[in-house]
Amino acid sequence: MNLFDVYSLFDVTPVKALGCKVWDDKGQEYLDLYGGHAVISIGHSHPEYIAAVTAQLGRIGFYSNSVKNPLQAELAEKIGRVTGYEDYSLFLDNSGAESNENAVKLASFHTGKDRVIAFHKSFHGRTSGAVALTDNPAIVSPFNANHKVAFCDLNDAGGVEAELSKGDVAAVIIEGIQGCGGINLPSDAFLRDLEALCKCYGAVLILDEIQSGYGRTGKFFAHQWAGIRPDIITMAKGIANGFPCGGILISPKFEPVKGMLGTTFGGNYLAMAAANATIDIIEKEGLVENARKVGAYLKENIPASPRIKEVRGRGLMLGIEFNEDVAPIRKALLYDKHIFTGVAGKTMVRLLAPLCLSMEEAGRFISALKEIL
Ligand SMILES: Cc1ncc(COP(=O)(O)O)c(C=O)c1O
Repeated sequence: MNLFDVYSLFDVTPVKALGCKVWDDKGQEYLDLYGGHAVISIGHSHPEYIAAVTAQLGRIGFYSNSVKNPLQAELAEKIGRVTGYEDYSLFLDNSGAESNENAVKLASFHTGKDRVIAFHKSFHGRTSGAVALTDNPAIVSPFNANHKVAFCDLNDAGGVEAELSKGDVAAVIIEGIQGCGGINLPSDAFLRDLEALCKCYGAVLILDEIQSGYGRTGKFFAHQWAGIRPDIITMAKGIANGFPCGGILISPKFEPVKGMLGTTFGGNYLAMAAANATIDIIEKEGLVENARKVGAYLKENIPASPRIKEVRGRGLMLGIEFNEDVAPIRKALLYDKHIFTGVAGKTMVRLLAPLCLSMEEAGRFISALKEIL
């Protein structure tokens, strides 16, 4: 049997990883500035993370959500304390798309409405509602396209208000920083406008922090740069450093009703062991501050070049927008300089390094890029 051929693959087979380094099956070492698509937060193969997941596997690997699992409450307590959202509740699921599905479902239950506002260049996942909220017609099937969604321009509060004023909007969903759409930042003022508009029109404000959250931008959540408190915050990727896990933070204004949300695997023992170890390590090693410091250094030191149009982003969520197709640049970085990077569209190199990236490793990337340019 063949694999269903939907991914474009680089000719690299990783077999081992540690910190920000990855080795392939031929023993070649790579510097990882992509973190497996913003998933590796604490670094690869952290010894305390391995010990926690391994020990948990030896105790109990799985049961269902019909019994008490203190590891879930432990994670809720930690996320509440670290983020300042102690008064919110946590619902645990398995992925980013599922978190957004749950957020929108909750907003629709709460308001009794069914239309959602999303933004041009958004990416919210590939399941039915999440992909309908994604501004990429190529990945939206006719089945997905039946959801009621309006796309507004980022940073255009007037456009959002025009849609909200129609009175049928359950939620506005926005990424803390747009990732796949090309590292586009909502301005702090725009996020504050959205918060006020959603309150005024009785819509739920959902912050998708799946890529931009968990310390990546140098605050725990990217929206915290704007000082707002959304109604629902969605998380995944960095939450368990590669063990599949997602979750949503829910404001106290939502009443839980038995059975309104649910999942078989969400909050399972292994994911919880991984997520608890991840947040402990983020705190203990000061990785949010490290992301801010090393990200600022990277951003300031990207070489000036007529080939580069702009560098955008915050912390370790950075996009280098070129005036040309970046495919040859990424190939040179990977095969000649042995550095993993990401992409957004055809002209942006996207950097989503593990949050433990050192200054020396950041410097290695800067030197490599200078040589290529
Ligand atoms: C902002 C954002 N939301 C949602 C998702 C979907 O997450 P997942 O692939 O875990 O379903 C992604 C994935 O890249 C993302 O970047």
